[in-house]
Amino acid sequence: EWKAIGIVGAGNMGSMMAFAFAELGLDVSIWDVAGKNVDELMENVEKPREQLQGKITGFKKIDEFMTSLEGKGERKLFVFSITHGEPADSVLRQIKGNLKSGDIILDGGNEYYRRTERRQQELKPLGVSWIGMGVSGGYQSARRGPSLSPGGDKQAIEQVLPFLELYSAKDKKTGKPCVTYIGPGGSGHYVKMCHNGIEGGLLSTTCEAWDLMHKGLSMSYDEIGDVFKEWSRQGELRNNFLLNIGVDICHRKKSAQGDGRGEGVDPAGGHVLDDVLDKVVQDDDNTEGTPLWSIMESALRHVSSPSLATAHYMRIASGNRNQRVRVAKKLDLPQPKRIDVKDKKDFLEKLRRAVYASFLCSYCQGLELIARASTDEGWGVDLGKCIQIWRAGCIIQSEAIADLLQPILAQDVQIMNIKLIDEVSRDLHDNFEALKEVVLRGTGSDACIPSLSASLEYLKYESSTRLPTQFMEAEMDYFGAHAYNKPCKPGEDPGPVKKGPHHYEWKPA
Ligand code: 6PG
Repeated sequence: EWKAIGIVGAGNMGSMMAFAFAELGLDVSIWDVAGKNVDELMENVEKPREQLQGKITGFKKIDEFMTSLEGKGERKLFVFSITHGEPADSVLRQIKGNLKSGDIILDGGNEYYRRTERRQQELKPLGVSWIGMGVSGGYQSARRGPSLSPGGDKQAIEQVLPFLELYSAKDKKTGKPCVTYIGPGGSGHYVKMCHNGIEGGLLSTTCEAWDLMHKGLSMSYDEIGDVFKEWSRQGELRNNFLLNIGVDICHRKKSAQGDGRGEGVDPAGGHVLDDVLDKVVQDDDNTEGTPLWSIMESALRHVSSPSLATAHYMRIASGNRNQRVRVAKKLDLPQPKRIDVKDKKDFLEKLRRAVYASFLCSYCQGLELIARASTDEGWGVDLGKCIQIWRAGCIIQSEAIADLLQPILAQDVQIMNIKLIDEVSRDLHDNFEALKEVVLRGTGSDACIPSLSASLEYLKYESSTRLPTQFMEAEMDYFGAHAYNKPCKPGEDPGPVKKGPHHYEWKPA
């Protein structure tokens, strides 16, 4: 049905989508508030490259962009690829008057799901469907096929699904497209938010493992790249996207010619990685985004997500580099030192298992947050399908974890606690000791291992029946008449947020 598409935003992602959609035969109109982005894109369009069936036309004026889409089919289809929040609202205000019943807007940005729902309500009276669609995999996937999570009006999504299936990444084993109808409302953006939460956990765990090898075991980048390669070749970390790109990063050397854009120039052939500072800031100088929202949501919905949260806290500290430099001088703490290992091969195997355990914890936390929200909001999200769309194209793709989870989640789509799945609990149990030893050795060597240690703590407190909170509850009852449950009183623990009925006057007046 679709002959043309309007893309809002000609940044990295929007531009790559323009080429991908034109390749699929659509005429693409693309507009950006920054004229320079449009110029850059059009320069690339004019360069002879692979045959595109559709035509790409860039616009600097939004009215002309809208007019260009008139008469190209009964309804208009848009993809937004711009910054969340006010920028998206502002464009919507500008084009709203030209939208007609039946038009569909796919918001491919990382947007907070409540804003998505607000826009859905705002456009409903016009008969226009606003679909919150997670797009994962970065600009390369945007060109070759990303993982997509559209949520909103089911009928509208079904009308674009055949096109999205053509565009999306395909699972290498089965050929299945990595896109599905996620659910109503803001569920699509919610699932993407949780994907990004998991992404944060995996990124942190990976860089902590890299650091343990580099500073703790004095391994060269090349040696670490070889270890990542081995991990990603088989076993529980098989075909993990972040480890795979980690292999490239560890091995990549600079050259006399550089990368053609002025980076990576070094006749001596040092590693590109040496040019990268330890500072990770949020895109577009934003302080909010998916990592923050996933922490907020997990606290709001009573889902414990320490591996994801602590990953983001380290990232925040990394971004505040000026402060860190000053605090470093003040605190003068010991620097990470060598880990004294007798059997390096054995330690590396423990590290592999620890990384797997921490990855699995991140998955548990993200999936449990989706399950909780889906139940609260009545979305009916199928967790098995989430795993399916994360099999290719996206940042958290991890074949072994998908193979472990998908068959079970496909049977029990509504499971709330992933750790109760036999195969998951077995793996968490079997890798616990390795994770503990890595955290112990890492702590002993003053390494920064927030996600690995948070995952260890998570496993302990999520599975403990005698938490130290016994004492916390007594203290809170003492100063705040908090009221408590008693042990061995069946029926006194009806739900996670229900208080106990007992109060003791610890200090009679
Ligand atoms: C993806 C990524 C992507 C992410 C950017 C920037 O799935 O392709 O998650 O969507 O937004 O990598 O991430 P931050 O917003 O955390 O800076």
